[in-house]
Amino acid sequence: MNLALFGPPGSGKGTQAKFLVQHFGIPQVSTGDLFRGEIKVGSDLGRRAQADMDRGDLVPDDVTLEIARRRLSVPDTAGGVLFDGFPRTVPQAVELDRMLGGMGRRMDRVIFMQVPTEVLVDRMAGRLTCPKCGRTYHPKLAPPRKEALCDDDGTELIMREDDRPETARKRISVYLEQTLPVLAHYRQQHVVSDIDGTGAIEEVWQRILRAVRASTGGPAAGTRVAADSRGDDSSQGRLGSR
Ligand code: AP5
Ligand code: MG
Repeated sequence: MNLALFGPPGSGKGTQAKFLVQHFGIPQVSTGDLFRGEIKVGSDLGRRAQADMDRGDLVPDDVTLEIARRRLSVPDTAGGVLFDGFPRTVPQAVELDRMLGGMGRRMDRVIFMQVPTEVLVDRMAGRLTCPKCGRTYHPKLAPPRKEALCDDDGTELIMREDDRPETARKRISVYLEQTLPVLAHYRQQHVVSDIDGTGAIEEVWQRILRAVRASTGGPAAGTRVAADSRGDDSSQGRLGSR
C-alpha cells in the first residue's frame, strides 16, 4: 500500500507518520528528513538542498526527485511506502506516478491534513525534533517523557533552523502557492481523504486510520470518513490558511 501524508508545514505529518509506519509496517519516506540527513553528512546533495531549506523555499524538483528515486530503489520500499512531505509540486507528483507505475504500483491514498494557520505557527514555534529518528515533540503540546530527550532513542532534541517564525511563515506561503495544487492532481484520481488535523494527536490518528481503512474496504462501519470522490478542489478554502 502506498500512502501519502499531505498538509502544510506543522500540520502533523511527521507526528502521524510514526503511527502509520507502526500500524501498516511500511517505511516512512520523508524528503525533509532525507535532506536533513544528507546535510548532516555533508554530501553534495545536502549542499544543493541546504540554502533553499534555510530560506523556507522548496528544493528544486531535480534534486528532490533524485533523492526520492534513490530511496525508492531500496528493497524495504517494495511492499509499500508512507510518503511524508513528498510530492510537493505537480511535476514531482507526475514523476512519482510514473515511478510507481513502472513498478506496477500506484498512489493508493493521500491523507490531506487540514489545520488553520494560527495553529500551525504555534505548533512550529517551540517544536523539538530528534536529529536521529526525526520524531517531533512540543514542550506544551506533545512533550517528551524526559525533558529534551527523544522517547524512542534518548537522543538530545534540537530546534529546526527553519522553524524560526519568519521562515515558518514563508514555508506556509510556499505551501499555498506551490504545493496545494498537488491536491487537485490527486483529486482527479479520487484518492484524497480530507482529515481534520486539529485536536489531540490520538484523535487525529483515529481519523486517519478510519479513512485509510474505509478506502481499502477495511472495517470502518459507523465512522464518518471523507474519502474524496468529487474530482474538484472545493475544500481548499477550508484550510483556513489565509
Ligand atoms: P519538511 O521536513 O517536510 O517540513 P514541512 O512539510 O514543512 O513539515 P514539518 O516537518 O515542518 O511539519 P509536519 O507536518 O511534519 O508536523 P509535525 O508532525 O512535526 O520539509 C522541510 C524543508 O525541506 C522544506 O521547507 C523544503 O525546503 C525541503 N523539502 C522537503 N521535501 C521537499 C519536496 N518534496 N520538494 C521540495 N523541497 C522539499 O508537527 C509539528 C509540531 O506540532 C510538533 O511539535 C508536534 O509535536 C506538534 N503536533 C503535531 N500534531 C499535533 C496535535 N494534533 N496537537 C498538538 N500538537 C501537535
Ligand atoms: Mg515533518
